[in-house]
Amino acid sequence: MNVSKFASGTAARLALFTLTGALAVAPAHALEIKLPQETSQLKASTLAGHQAASAWCVMCHSVDYVNSQPPMPAAFWHAEVTKMVKVYGAPIPEDQVKLISEYLGIAYGNDSK
Ligand code: HEC
Repeated sequence: MNVSKFASGTAARLALFTLTGALAVAPAHALEIKLPQETSQLKASTLAGHQAASAWCVMCHSVDYVNSQPPMPAAFWHAEVTKMVKVYGAPIPEDQVKLISEYLGIAYGNDSK
């Protein structure tokens, strides 16, 4: 066994233990995280789904995630938005999911109006 490795590992654990102890008694501070200004936007449209997407799809990530997808029809977007809801917990009501999928299929796919 490598003794110096063991010793430094023990020292690290001891330091971590001490730190954890110090944190336990330290008063809780609110953590402030400043996110950069969002610079990307969804493609403009008069469809109701545009407004819905602009409201719901910016909660967790940039709309660049949408902008960087290849052209896809509403069926793809419906599956995608459903994944946001079912897998990632996006609180988007089903009627909004439908509107958003229609809008994305037209604005980000080749679906016709
Ligand atoms: C509850 C949080 C949340 C909301 C709200 C949300 N997403 Fe996501 N989205 C995620 C997460 C988490 C990922 C995966 C991130 C990663 O893999 O880096 C993701 C990834 C994506 C991707 C990349 C492809 C993929 O499937 O990973 C697209 C496109 C996308 N989201 C579209 C949308 C659209 C459109 C909306 C609005 C209807 C939306 N998201 C709303 C959490 C969310």
